[in-house]
Amino acid sequence: MTQTVDREQHWDVVIIGAGAAGLMCAIEAGRRGRRVLVLDHANRVGKKILMSGGGRCNFTNMYSGPEHFLSANPHFMKSALSRFTPWDFIALVERHGVAYHEKKLGQLFCDRSSKDIVALLLEECDAADVTVRTKAPVHDIRTGEPHALDTAVGAVTCASLVIATGGYSIPKMGATGFGIDFARSLGIAVQPTRAALVPVILDARTRERLGDLAGVSLDTETAAGGATFRENILFTHRGLSGPSVLQASSYWQPGGPLEIDLFPGLDLAAHIREVRARRPGLALRTLLAERLTRRVARRWCELWCPDRPLGELGDADVDAVVRACQPWTVWPEGTEGYRTAEVTLGGVDTAALSSKTMACRDHPGVYFIGEVVDVTGHLGGHNFQWAWASGHAAGQHV
Ligand code: FDA
Repeated sequence: MTQTVDREQHWDVVIIGAGAAGLMCAIEAGRRGRRVLVLDHANRVGKKILMSGGGRCNFTNMYSGPEHFLSANPHFMKSALSRFTPWDFIALVERHGVAYHEKKLGQLFCDRSSKDIVALLLEECDAADVTVRTKAPVHDIRTGEPHALDTAVGAVTCASLVIATGGYSIPKMGATGFGIDFARSLGIAVQPTRAALVPVILDARTRERLGDLAGVSLDTETAAGGATFRENILFTHRGLSGPSVLQASSYWQPGGPLEIDLFPGLDLAAHIREVRARRPGLALRTLLAERLTRRVARRWCELWCPDRPLGELGDADVDAVVRACQPWTVWPEGTEGYRTAEVTLGGVDTAALSSKTMACRDHPGVYFIGEVVDVTGHLGGHNFQWAWASGHAAGQHV
């Protein structure tokens, strides 16, 4: 059914995308007295917020700062992040009485449900007199003064047009390449995009050897492309996941290795020698199991490590154990792609945008915010913090 916008069809601001960034921008612009229309093609707003953090939305990170972001320009995000900090969002959460807790590493989650965050945003939109329309795809845009849009809620014009349509990840939830395609249609450069914060797939032989370890989780240090993350990995039927691998996936280049230290913080060779001197009869697999779990230790001894008592291990054997564990080097075949990725790496080139306002330099009154921009956060609440901060920045200017 086609909805119509009953008020006159000219708006100060039209925002395409009612996700985290779009709603934050709408709230800020509405508070400044701008007439704001938000359009989303989905049947409800904030679908990714609802599914995030396992249903509890990891809505920010207390330590969010530029060092937690990837971009072709590592300085671009600094301005917006410094003008809307995690504490600004926390203050909003507290004003609405949303109960939350720190899970680990500064990651803040709702106690109850992600629905609390969506409800908070919609209440703020109401208070700022923002109009939000769902099931409202945009068919055509002609930029100009004003911009003219052909939409499912009729033809609308606006002075400021904000693109907040996110990235490609999870197409099933309504993700599209709309923002990227629109940027290209304006001649704006786009940094190459790929799935990030995503599980990796191992080759068929390794899957066969390790597939039955699916579900086992280990504390590791995983490195790729010069970045290292100390968190858990998780064996899956197809490969590896868990926070440590998801983080590293953002730095991993196709064809490259992931280097996984299975004994982080420990000099494994020295440890084996030290225990060997005291307990020569101890089986290597028992020693490895202290960190690796019994199942993984047994498999490593079947595949790569000598399955003998420590007293029978020579220096070459100890070297073999270290080679298999510190790091364990894997060469992923690929990633699970946008089907399961939390974010899209790359996007609208920040060189085209003002870091203060998120406005396009060469297209007056056009803005890009949130994940569609080439700014990608680490796992742990940083991507929402970027959505809030970039939405806030544009909201002061539109
Ligand atoms: P977002 O994708 O949220 O919103 C875009 C909106 O645009 C959507 O409502 C969509 O329907 C709409 N849209 C798309 N195409 C359109 C079109 N053609 N026309 C009209 N509307 C269109 N981050 C984090 O910090 N903490 C977390 O806990 C999680 N957890 C998490 C779990 C899962 C499963 C995923 C997939 C992602 C996360 N993330 C996350 C990442 C986070 O969800 C993401 O970075 C932000 O939602 C990005 O906000 P945006 O507003 O930019 O895009």
